[in-house]
Amino acid sequence: MTTATAHQPTSDKPKAVPGRSVIFKIKRCDGPGKPFRWESFKVPTEPGSNVISCLKWIAANPTTTDGKQTTPVVWDSGCLEEVCGACTMVINGRVRQSCSCLIDDYAPREGDTVTLEPMSKFPVIRDLWVDRERMFNALERVKGWVPIDGTYNLGAGPQESPEHQQMRYALSECMTCGCCLEACPQFLKEEDPKNWDTAFIGAQAISQARYFNEHETGARLKGDRMDVLTGPGGVSDCGNAQNCVKVCPKHIPLTESIGAVGRSATVHAIKKFFLGH
Ligand code: SF4
Ligand code: SF4
Ligand code: FES
Repeated sequence: MTTATAHQPTSDKPKAVPGRSVIFKIKRCDGPGKPFRWESFKVPTEPGSNVISCLKWIAANPTTTDGKQTTPVVWDSGCLEEVCGACTMVINGRVRQSCSCLIDDYAPREGDTVTLEPMSKFPVIRDLWVDRERMFNALERVKGWVPIDGTYNLGAGPQESPEHQQMRYALSECMTCGCCLEACPQFLKEEDPKNWDTAFIGAQAISQARYFNEHETGARLKGDRMDVLTGPGGVSDCGNAQNCVKVCPKHIPLTESIGAVGRSATVHAIKKFFLGH
């Protein structure tokens, strides 16, 4: 299982050997419902190589270390600068973005091995490419937007203190990558979309609900968001293991968000009990 304490590069790693070859051990799958298998590839590296550049090399040279011709490995990516979250996978046991994963840090010696696996909490489409739709479904459930009618100029928005802006800015950086969900012991893989609305919704959607609740106009939908977050699979399902905050590449204060939404959930539940709304 992916954990926050799995292998990470450290500053006392040996200096990277120039011109070395690295073994990529990749967990492969030909499509939804198909069995997994492992294949290894020997890849020559250059200074500054990252996992994506090595995957590109493998795509052009799909021969395994035991000389077998195979299909090119499939993965997803977009921005190549740790902004879109599409390239997230499990690298040497730790979930992270492959575009920003430098081989000099992970495999500095000749023959070092880098293990690549798809995230385990999302359905695999093929090889390292997973379907992240469940996260977008969660954002829809918590109404992750500011309700504004029309496209005309609405004038200046509500005033917000710099401190409040800064707090919300940190939350706005979420790229829906899935690292926090992959590392969370409470967030379970649910292949069937019918189960998505009752299984634990996870730190990503909880934090985004806080982000939009904290916006003066966005707060108009706070009641609807809190209905979801106090329902089945809501914030009370968090077991406080704090793995999520340790793996978030954007350093989003997820446990702080979970605490804040937990407090709002209590107020919401009391209000509902006494006022009926
Ligand atoms: S603190 Fe909650 S959301 Fe974060 S990893 Fe733990 S159980 Fe999951
Ligand atoms: S909260 Fe962090 S780890 Fe979770 S989806 Fe957003 S950016 Fe990724
Ligand atoms: S390709 Fe966008 S985060 Fe890696």
